[in-house]
Amino acid sequence: MKDIQFTRHRRLRASAGMRSLVRETHLHKEDFIYPIFVIDGENIKNEIASMPGVFQLSMDNLLTEVDEVTSLGIKSVILFGVPYEHDKDEEGTGAFSHNGLVQVATRLIKEKYPELIVVADTCLCEYTSHGHCGVVEGGKILNDASLNLLAKTAISQAEAGADIIAPSNMMDGFVAAIRAGLDEAGFEDVPIMSYAVKYASSYYGPFRDAANGAPQFGDRKTYQMDPANRMEAFREAESDIDEGADFLIVKPALSYQDIIRDVKNYTTLPVVAYNVSGEYSMVKAAAVNGWVDEKSIVLEMLTGMKRAGADLIITYFAKDAARYLDDIK
Ligand code: PBG
Ligand code: ZN
Repeated sequence: MKDIQFTRHRRLRASAGMRSLVRETHLHKEDFIYPIFVIDGENIKNEIASMPGVFQLSMDNLLTEVDEVTSLGIKSVILFGVPYEHDKDEEGTGAFSHNGLVQVATRLIKEKYPELIVVADTCLCEYTSHGHCGVVEGGKILNDASLNLLAKTAISQAEAGADIIAPSNMMDGFVAAIRAGLDEAGFEDVPIMSYAVKYASSYYGPFRDAANGAPQFGDRKTYQMDPANRMEAFREAESDIDEGADFLIVKPALSYQDIIRDVKNYTTLPVVAYNVSGEYSMVKAAAVNGWVDEKSIVLEMLTGMKRAGADLIITYFAKDAARYLDDIK
């Protein structure tokens, strides 16, 4: 044995103290953006069947949720509106109405918590009767005709006090259109967190239950990206940077960690991973069955996203993870 040469990697793993000294990736509560679903009505707190622990909340229950979020040390939320079928129309008018769900919720939250960063999801699909993210004509999703409505939506969200506009619609030119609209309306200081690299994914299934926003015909493959493509992610990132995006989202996260790394290496902008609904549901379902240890799985998943290059993570696990981080300390 005397002559063999090798490296003792285990020296740096020998104790918890040593491991923590050389740990390369750390999760912080500041990394998390927590999604909240708001719905019209009173005293509503509907748990989403496929997303245990996530609720559709009416405005009177919203602040209780936000109290919890802030008390856990989370600094940011992203808002989604869940309109009823009878409040939807062809154009998705609810998305840009002054008293729209996201607008009202934003005002309520900012009044009580001016420091909390409110991100507004900017899309039409929850509000359109056909459930697509843009204007539909003759069974087609029109690109250019959608841009004006998206810009209107962003402006009304900024007027309500949203700190960040997060367009998720995947029309071409949406960042340019929204940037121009915001600037013209005097919101040149409101940043755009673009869903720049968004794949047409089956992992959005539970979200579509939560937000009641499934397309009524066809699918989203003519505007969201093909999961098989990598080069296309660079093109999408490039055009959004050119058009003035301030953050780039990669979505989903779990099956796309290579893309998170690619985008991180490509840009100096903050990169955001969206740990989507289906990723949440799978872990919750396995945990309920006792098949995985929820806490360690969640921390491992989120750490993996940061290690892949995410600066921020939009995640339904934000509250759970904030609690776990408290336990660890
Ligand atoms: C709407 C939107 C979707 C998600 C965020 N914004 C659904 C979709 O594009 O079909 C998915 C979020 C999730 O699954 O957690 N454009
Ligand atoms: Zn949409």
